[in-house]
Amino acid sequence: MSDADLDVHRSTAEATRALREDVREGLSAPQKWLPSKWFYDAAGSVLFERITELPEYYPTRAEREVLRREAAQVATITGARTLVELGSGSSEKTRLLLDALSAHGTLAEFVPLDVSESALAGAAAAIATAYPQLTVRGVVGDFTEHLGLLPGVPPRLVAFLGGTIGNFLPTDRAKFLHSVRDVLGVGEWLLLGTDLVKDEQTLVQAYDDAAGVTAEFNRNVLRVVNTLLGADFDPAAFDHVSYWDAHNEWIEMRLRARTDARVRIPGAGMEVTFAAGEYVRTEISAKFRPEGVRAELTEAGFAVEQWWTDAQGRFGMSLSRAID
Ligand code: SAH
Ligand code: AVI
Repeated sequence: MSDADLDVHRSTAEATRALREDVREGLSAPQKWLPSKWFYDAAGSVLFERITELPEYYPTRAEREVLRREAAQVATITGARTLVELGSGSSEKTRLLLDALSAHGTLAEFVPLDVSESALAGAAAAIATAYPQLTVRGVVGDFTEHLGLLPGVPPRLVAFLGGTIGNFLPTDRAKFLHSVRDVLGVGEWLLLGTDLVKDEQTLVQAYDDAAGVTAEFNRNVLRVVNTLLGADFDPAAFDHVSYWDAHNEWIEMRLRARTDARVRIPGAGMEVTFAAGEYVRTEISAKFRPEGVRAELTEAGFAVEQWWTDAQGRFGMSLSRAID
């Protein structure tokens, strides 16, 4: 790439090995599951961008509203010289932060990190062109493994947008927040987007749109397993399910086998059987309450300095400082 550096910490061979482990563990469990990071090959990243434009999928619009209103404040409070973005995808909303931090006069570097090389390459090149004064250093990597390798001059602001924090199980979420705290120096910053608990119908529809885009995004994980591990999943034989787990306060996406099925996965050296109606859990998307977000950030070593929501109170954004 000519106009933005890209550090690749994850080759296709490494991704294949990691998927093999996840498939062996998740598809041999009594309740089958797969980690949601495997949605995001090039096709999955394009499908996710289409999701962000769906009428039912409010989180992107709600978060953009908060960023539009508060980005200047974020710049004033943090005076960040480096903006690190985890799970950056297209980095579209992030431009509001880049604009505000550039106008504030402090920003020198932008470091987007994502597992999806295609999404990252496109975003890093577009941003390098739009912001020629910035050093743009894209990192292809996994934010559960590669945080220690993040470059950037302090003070850094780490942005984790979109509500992607909700895609961790609670114990993994705590580990992740600690790992972010560990790579920051005292006084550096975390800007965290968190989708909030709301009525069941709004939530379930946000993950089961009328046009069927989310269903295709969900089935894409089976295509990724087919491609990388030579499996013979028939994605069309699985129904997309969006389920609100009121006890855990998360949306679960599932793929439910329509009939009895047997699937060969040579790259994982296994065969998996499904009974009709049996499902694979492919994603959780936790929804938060303000007091819960604050407690988790405090526990991980952050002081929450600001809490904002969109006007309808659908989506929360916290700005926190790493403390001793
Ligand atoms: N931040 C963007 C994109 C959110 S989609 C937004 O708010 O719209 C989630 C993004 O996180 C995808 O681009 C996906 O490729 C990336 N992602 C998911 N799991 C990841 C992981 N373990 N490590 C790095 N990136 C990951
Ligand atoms: C990336 N993440 C925050 C999205 C979410 O809402 O949990 C992924 C997604 N899954 C279905 N639609 C969008």
